[in-house]
Amino acid sequence: MRVILTEAEISEGITRLARQVASDYDGRPLTVLGVLTGSLIFLSDLIRRLDLPLKVGLVQASSYRGQTKSPGSLAIADVSGLNVCGRHVLLLDDIFDTGQTLSGIVAELHRLEPASLRSAVLLWKEGRQRVALTPDYHCFRIPDVFVVGYGLDFNDEYRHLPHVAALEDHDH
Ligand code: XMP
Repeated sequence: MRVILTEAEISEGITRLARQVASDYDGRPLTVLGVLTGSLIFLSDLIRRLDLPLKVGLVQASSYRGQTKSPGSLAIADVSGLNVCGRHVLLLDDIFDTGQTLSGIVAELHRLEPASLRSAVLLWKEGRQRVALTPDYHCFRIPDVFVVGYGLDFNDEYRHLPHVAALEDHDH
């Protein structure tokens, strides 16, 4: 595997993002929603750097991928139990690839009438976008390679790696 982002670089990127978010929300209460499972580590690292009145929730979504490059059909679990009506919401995902996942969840969340809804991703994969929506915040832009680590998986492996690495053919 080829390391694309080291643990230290990721940490700096998340600190920058936390400063930006804290400054933009300027003390207003925020609900941070992480998309399972890939955003788990990103979520836990970001929220511990946010000095804001904060609530945290999780959204379950999966897009089945038979091959690493092709987006699958999106399944989003029922979000109606999330208590976000009238709240400022920041949705977190691990990676913005085609954008299908983020755009699908954003549409679902808008129906719950939050006071505002923004999105943040750790990684923005260049040249893959298929939707009009773009994330409000991102930490890093990466080239069009399949990446694992720091929450991102291949067949549920490699999520625990502290860095982000490109998965090469001989790795799987
Ligand atoms: P879309 O295409 O909906 O993709 O923007 C978002 C979801 O697809 C997964 N994904 C990846 N997972 N390495 C991964 O481990 C990748 O390079 C990659 N690209 C997309 C991921 O679950 C993300 O939330």
